[in-house]
Amino acid sequence: MMLKAAETKTAKEDADFALLKSIIKTRLGFNCEYYKNSHFRRRIDVRLRATGSKSFGEYVQLLEKDPDECAVLLETLTVNVTNFFRNSEVYDIIEKEVLPSVIRSKGTGLNRSIKVWSAGCSIGVEAYSIAMLFHHILGNNIEKYNIIITGTDIDKASLLHARNGIYTDTEMKDVRPAFINRYFVREGNRYHINDELKKMTRFRSHDMISGPRMNGFDVIFCRNVTIYFEKELQEKLYMDFYNGLNDNGFFVMGKTETLIGPSKDLFNAYDAKERIYSKNHEVKTSPGWKNC
Ligand SMILES: C[S@@+](CC[C@H](N)C(=O)[O-])C[C@H]1O[C@@H](n2cnc3c(N)ncnc32)[C@H](O)[C@@H]1O
Repeated sequence: MMLKAAETKTAKEDADFALLKSIIKTRLGFNCEYYKNSHFRRRIDVRLRATGSKSFGEYVQLLEKDPDECAVLLETLTVNVTNFFRNSEVYDIIEKEVLPSVIRSKGTGLNRSIKVWSAGCSIGVEAYSIAMLFHHILGNNIEKYNIIITGTDIDKASLLHARNGIYTDTEMKDVRPAFINRYFVREGNRYHINDELKKMTRFRSHDMISGPRMNGFDVIFCRNVTIYFEKELQEKLYMDFYNGLNDNGFFVMGKTETLIGPSKDLFNAYDAKERIYSKNHEVKTSPGWKNC
């Protein structure tokens, strides 16, 4: 008898969980099927605890009547934690080797266009970190280049934050003092990204799972995003990134992420420790950007 009651309870929970997933997909446009179940359950539990809901069923009822909770849930599911120059060791190689190599590859012609994609850009700090480095490396020569850094995300609130470009100490902790002075305008405890960097960046809504494929990039950053996805999807996305790169382009992933699937044999490890991969060339190039 007891066993029967427990089975009925589990079946009800499973049904409510499935209903919750379908509501999240249709209302929030967030396709949970592709995300690791463990990640998804942990994030839902955060909202269950915060709202005092005792079951998925109770939480579904709350979602049905409270549009604000839908917005908060999406924010919780997408995990927007980030900061400028996150894992600064990676940015050391980006600054000293990767960006100089990209700049050199553009030669000295008139059309020196450089395209970078920050996929899963959250509030934009990755895109702006890259913009600062280009600016710093090129100095006055920046005028000779058309550099566009495109940040994409599914979270609209994060994209708005990125476009506004206003940050707090939490995100600023790894920005060098010289960069703070050069690229931000401080107002009280808020730091505003300056117009020079804003001009180099675009932020737009794009779902890397279901959105159109993007290509023509010299560098693609997708860091701390695929970690939440199922393996099959990771494999597919890494191939999309491979195809989205120009010859000799670079792919940068998060420190806890690992290349898997067919792209593993196509990409060359440029710096495996820092998770930097290159599309065609194998050998590390020496910094020589001063000539560009
Ligand atoms: C932890 S943040 C990573 C931010 C930044 N790349 C970094 O490493 O600091 C993960 C971001 O991925 C976004 N994201 C999750 N699923 C996505 C998808 N299917 N398409 C585009 N962005 C997605 C989230 O909204 C969130 O802003």
